[in-house]
Amino acid sequence: MNRPAAAEKPKSSAYDSRLLKTIRREETDVTPVWLMRQAGRYMENYRAIRAKHSMLEVIQTPELACEITMQPINAFDLDAAIIFADILPPLIGMGMNLEFVKGVGPVMDNPITTTKDVDMLACPPATLHLQSTLDAIKLVKAELEPKGIPLLGFSGAPFTLASYMIEGGGSKVYAKTKAFMYTEPAAWVRLMDKLVTVQADYLIQQAKAGADAVQIFDSWAGWALGQYDYNRYVAPYNTKLISMLGRSGVPVINFSTGTYPYLEDVAACGGDVVGIDWRMPLDEAWEKVGTDMAVMGNLDPIALLAPWGELKFRIDQVLDAADGRLGHIFNLGHGILPNTPIDNVRRLVDYVHERTAK
Ligand code: CP3
Repeated sequence: MNRPAAAEKPKSSAYDSRLLKTIRREETDVTPVWLMRQAGRYMENYRAIRAKHSMLEVIQTPELACEITMQPINAFDLDAAIIFADILPPLIGMGMNLEFVKGVGPVMDNPITTTKDVDMLACPPATLHLQSTLDAIKLVKAELEPKGIPLLGFSGAPFTLASYMIEGGGSKVYAKTKAFMYTEPAAWVRLMDKLVTVQADYLIQQAKAGADAVQIFDSWAGWALGQYDYNRYVAPYNTKLISMLGRSGVPVINFSTGTYPYLEDVAACGGDVVGIDWRMPLDEAWEKVGTDMAVMGNLDPIALLAPWGELKFRIDQVLDAADGRLGHIFNLGHGILPNTPIDNVRRLVDYVHERTAK
C-alpha cells in the first residue's frame, strides 16, 4: 500500500538510505540488513547496563535507551536502528500492572477477565505515559542524522497485546484469550478498538519524534489462530491501525510469525513491507504477499548459532530466494537469541552487503 508522505513530516537524512529506498522498491547499491531485537542480551555492553538497571528503568530513561539503541549500530554495519523499548509499556498507561520478572518474562498481576475490566481500560495519549520513549527517539535521531541511518519505531499489534493482557503474561496455547474472544465478542471489539486507538497515537507520535518507519509486531496471532479467526477477530483491527498510520507520513512494516497459512490475508491488512518469519521459503512467501510489495526476512535466528559454513549456506538460501528483486530487506525471521555469537552477527551483516553489491 503506497501512501503519499504527509506534508508535515520533513525529510530526514535517511530518506535516501538503503532501507527507505528498498521500502519504496527503488534500486540500492546493496541489500539493506538489520536484525530484529538487535539491541539486547547477546551484547556484553547491554548486559552491563541491565546489571545495574531494571528493564523498565532502561526503557524509561532516554539516555540509557539511546545508548542501547546505538550499541549495535556502532558495532556492526547495520542499515537501520530500532528504538530500544518494548511492545508492553503502553499497557501501563491503560491500567495494566506490568513487570518484567527475571527468568520469567513480562507479567501482569491484574489480567483482563471480565467485560468490565475492558471498560475500565484507559486510552491516554502517548505524550502522557510514553514521553520517555519519544524523548529517546529524539536523542537517537540526533546521533543517526549525520550517519544517514534510519530509525525504526514500533508497537505491538492489537491481538498480541490483548493476549498478554488476558493471559497476564506469555502463553503457549492462548486458551484464555481465545475463550474471551469467543465468549465476549462485543467486549473483544471494544478491547481491540482501545488498543488500536492507543497504538495508532503512539506510532504517530514516534514518527513525529523522528522515527523514519514503524514496525507493528503481531508476534502471536499466527500461533493462536487459524485463518477464520484471524480474519474475524484480528484482521479488521490491524487494517484499521495501519490505515490510521497514513497520517504518520512514514512507511509501515507489518510483521507477524506463524501466519504462513494465510499470509495473503496478513498482507491484505496493509503496510508498505510485510515481515516474513523463517518457516517458509522467502520466494513462496513473497508470491503470497504479492510481488508488488516489499518484504523483510527471513533467516532462522538459530542459524546464527551454527558454524559459519552452515550459516552462510542459509544466508545464501534467503538471498537466492530474493533473487535480487527490488524490495527485499534482509532480516531474521524472528528476534535474535541472547546466546548468539557476536562474530556471526558481524559476518552475516558484512556478507549480505558483499554478496549483493552491484
Ligand atoms: O532491538 C530491538 O529489537 C528493540 C527492542 C525490543 C525489545 N522487545 C526489547 C526487549 C523489541 C522490538 C521488542 C518487541 C517485543 N517485546 C515483542 C515482539 C517481538 C518478538 O520477538 O516477537 C514481544 C512479544 C515482546 C514482549 C517481551 N519483552 C517478552 C516476551 C520479553 C521476555 C522474553 C525475552 O524475549 O527476553 C521481553 C523482554 C525484552 N524486551 C528484552 C529485550 C531486550 C529482554 C530483557 C532483558 O532480559 O534484558
